[in-house]
Amino acid sequence: VLIAVVSAVQAYLLGSIDTGILVSKFLYHDDVRKYGSGAAGMTNMLRTFGKKAAALTAFGDVLKGVLAVCIGRWLFTLMPESTTLSPYLAVYLAAIFAIIGHLKPLYFGFKGGKGVLVAGGTILAIQPVLIPFLAVIFLACLLPTGMVSLGSVTMAALYPVLTILYGVFRGYSAADLTVCAIGSVIMGAMVIYMHRSNIQRIREGKEYRFGRHGKK
Ligand code: G3P
Repeated sequence: VLIAVVSAVQAYLLGSIDTGILVSKFLYHDDVRKYGSGAAGMTNMLRTFGKKAAALTAFGDVLKGVLAVCIGRWLFTLMPESTTLSPYLAVYLAAIFAIIGHLKPLYFGFKGGKGVLVAGGTILAIQPVLIPFLAVIFLACLLPTGMVSLGSVTMAALYPVLTILYGVFRGYSAADLTVCAIGSVIMGAMVIYMHRSNIQRIREGKEYRFGRHGKK
């Protein structure tokens, strides 16, 4: 239990390092959360400060997701019970707490981003095979509409489905499959919950759009 708590805490502290806020504070002497959608994520950095800022934010947010899961996985190996428990417990625990840190960062007044890229980083460390499928889903939503949020919400909704299909395909044990299903549903639900204002705007036809689709 102690190691599980340590793993959750390390993931929360890593997740709380919101790259968008750091980049906007140190490179632009401003706070991205004052602009656009108010989110400290890649999309709002692109909207507010441009491509370089967005790229740095994406890199940092994905990296902290990867690191949190890798550290969580390593901590799990130190547990005497690790041979009898599903190894997916460790990675989803770290992933979920890294996302919570990003959404509610300890160091920045508990106001952060929407969790898409940090979740992407954790998935890259848990099941990288799912990334191309998620990317196709994302682009299939973004390209015709210009709405990043539509891509994010659709990916988040389909991520648990992909996870379960992949687990069944690979012949996971019932315990592993259950942990993966619960973990991925929690991750997807957190991202969708953070997009509730976007979902409202999509329904009203008022969501921000990029590129030829309109004003960002
Ligand atoms: O990853 C966040 C994206 O899906 C939406 O961002 O700033 O348009 O709310 P934003």
